[in-house]
Amino acid sequence: MDSLFLDVDLSSSGTCRVSFSGTGKSIVVPYGTYLIDAAREAGLEVPQQCGRMAICSWCSMEVLEGESNLSELSDGERRLIDWEKLAETERTSCQTEVLGNVRVTARYW
Ligand code: FES
Repeated sequence: MDSLFLDVDLSSSGTCRVSFSGTGKSIVVPYGTYLIDAAREAGLEVPQQCGRMAICSWCSMEVLEGESNLSELSDGERRLIDWEKLAETERTSCQTEVLGNVRVTARYW
């Protein structure tokens, strides 16, 4: 059911739909919105410890659909992967911009 949201291309309107699997929530946000801000705008709690510096990885989310619709890995995220604090299927929501429709989930929801 969630993937239906990915079928509608909103890019011409400069907006993207972010679906938060397991919560029943989704939101349409402006292109380039950070994933953490989209989640909070949708009313979801997102833990963080490092002030969005890509150090703690507490804000990480698993990408279920639309990986290519996210900004490229930041240097901080590459470091977290090297430290084995971030899985290949995860992104730190504080470092990741939404560039198209995506579906994500998190272990803390
Ligand atoms: S808030 Fe620490 S990595 Fe995102």
